[in-house]
Amino acid sequence: MNIYSQLIFPNLIDKVMSDRSFSEYRKTVLADAVGDVLEIGFGTGLNLAYYPAKQVNNITTIDINTGMNKLAQKRIAVSPISVNFQVLNGENLPMEDDTFDTVVSTWTLCSIKNLDRAIAEIYRVLKPGGKFLFIEHGLSNEPNIQTWQHRITPIQKFIGEGCHLDRDIKRAISQVFDRLDIKEFYAPNTPKIGGYFYQGVAIK
Ligand SMILES: C[S@@+](CC[C@H](N)C(=O)[O-])C[C@H]1O[C@@H](n2cnc3c(N)ncnc32)[C@H](O)[C@@H]1O
Repeated sequence: MNIYSQLIFPNLIDKVMSDRSFSEYRKTVLADAVGDVLEIGFGTGLNLAYYPAKQVNNITTIDINTGMNKLAQKRIAVSPISVNFQVLNGENLPMEDDTFDTVVSTWTLCSIKNLDRAIAEIYRVLKPGGKFLFIEHGLSNEPNIQTWQHRITPIQKFIGEGCHLDRDIKRAISQVFDRLDIKEFYAPNTPKIGGYFYQGVAIK
């Protein structure tokens, strides 16, 4: 990894993703987290403050970028919930099958290189009946916006460390999970190419 990935990008992501507009989504998505939780693409730990401490036993967090560590550790230190932070690739998890009650992903499926593999891993490590809670940005339902999303994605991937604007998140999750409750909407005050959100729950 280079200086951009290790130093600049983690600080940039921390600043952008700390925006108050994301907080309400985090709170809503995480309200359903229970038991033993796995969060993939933990980043700088911005979700930690929003986990319901009364119903969560512990959180295992993974991220592929070691540069996120320093900022994440500050939030882990003040978390009332026990956190097991690991540097791992979400495409290839070492955890046993049927380990977690909840898996969480917030604005991460856009960046994982092999999306289908990561979703298969999420499914595998969830206990039967366990929930995958997510909020992601991705492919719009408007063809003219899709065109621009496809055009801009190569640039976005370059500056956003692999972030795609044009992934059909619903299609990818529904290929693996039969039970899926999902809503799609444009986030207010956000450019449409990056602001088409998929928020929901998939059950194993
Ligand atoms: C846009 S950031 C979102 C961070 C955090 N989830 C949040 O809501 O603030 C995407 C994160 O996914 C991580 N990531 C990308 N590819 C990954 C992979 N294959 N496995 C695990 N984490 C990955 C990145 O390092 C980054 O921290």
